Amino acid sequence: MDLTSKIILITGGGSGIGLELTRQLVALGNTVIICGRDSGKLAEAARKTGAQTIAGDVTVAEDQERILSEIAAQHGRLDLLVNNAGIFLAYDFKTDPNTLQKIEREIAINATAPLTLTRRALPLLEKSAQAGVLFIGSGIAFVASPGTPVYSGTKALIHHCAQTLRHQLRPHGITVFEALPPVVDTDMAKALKSGNFKKMKPADLVRDILTGMRRNQTEMLLGQSSQIKLMSRIAPAFLFRQFAKTEFH
Ligand SMILES: NC(=O)c1ccc[n+]([C@@H]2O[C@H](COP(=O)([O-])OP(=O)(O)OC[C@H]3O[C@@H](n4cnc5c(N)ncnc54)[C@H](OP(=O)(O)O)[C@@H]3O)[C@@H](O)[C@H]2O)c1
Repeated sequence: MDLTSKIILITGGGSGIGLELTRQLVALGNTVIICGRDSGKLAEAARKTGAQTIAGDVTVAEDQERILSEIAAQHGRLDLLVNNAGIFLAYDFKTDPNTLQKIEREIAINATAPLTLTRRALPLLEKSAQAGVLFIGSGIAFVASPGTPVYSGTKALIHHCAQTLRHQLRPHGITVFEALPPVVDTDMAKALKSGNFKKMKPADLVRDILTGMRRNQTEMLLGQSSQIKLMSRIAPAFLFRQFAKTEFH
């Protein structure tokens, strides 16, 4: 996919991986619109990168519709939707007082919202001469991670849906990409206390994602994620035990 002069929406573009994607895609001459719940954070990201902003919560249907209609009114099309917004919750399923809310919130943000937003964006994507959807998944899609009882399941769901949607949307001219990062050095990864992880720099991760997309590599296993996938095939019990040792703040 050519990554210049495109109209791009990045959810969660105000920080972490989304902010780095914004920085590199603006530098390539694209028009990047970022969304997120914290308008102060978005304004700061816009000042640093030159992106446009639309505040909104991706789990709220009206916010999804408003974000897309503002893009339709201003730009008339969408070339690339980046489903990046996400949360990562480590807790004990039995003893945490907020388990019920956490289950609902994590599934809503990480799993339901990327799919409903993609469905709602299809009419705008179909107006593009070369349209794409990029899901930011995770290498953890390949292993259940006991300390985060729901997170790895949301990424496994996204991994399956990226494949099904790739198949269904290809005839409509829409290419579905999935990037599966390892642990990346962002605010999200600060929750990780220890483990056999090397944190990848956001700038390196995004450079590899954009290189993969330019080569039309639709499934991008980044950094240690290819090892996780391989281990999940040849030594799944060992891999599970390794992840069970992870400690969180
Ligand atoms: N960091 C890692 O180690 C790692 C590894 C693999 C995959 N990933 C994935 O990469 C993606 C980005 O993670 P990150 O590390 O960059 O995390 P981050 O720095 O915490 O950024 C997450 C972004 O998502 C936005 N967001 C969260 N809930 C939202 C909602 N309901 N509506 C709109 N925006 C929302 C946040 O903005 P607001 O709070 O302002 O809404 C924030 O800008 C996530 O999908 C994550 O699962 C991360």
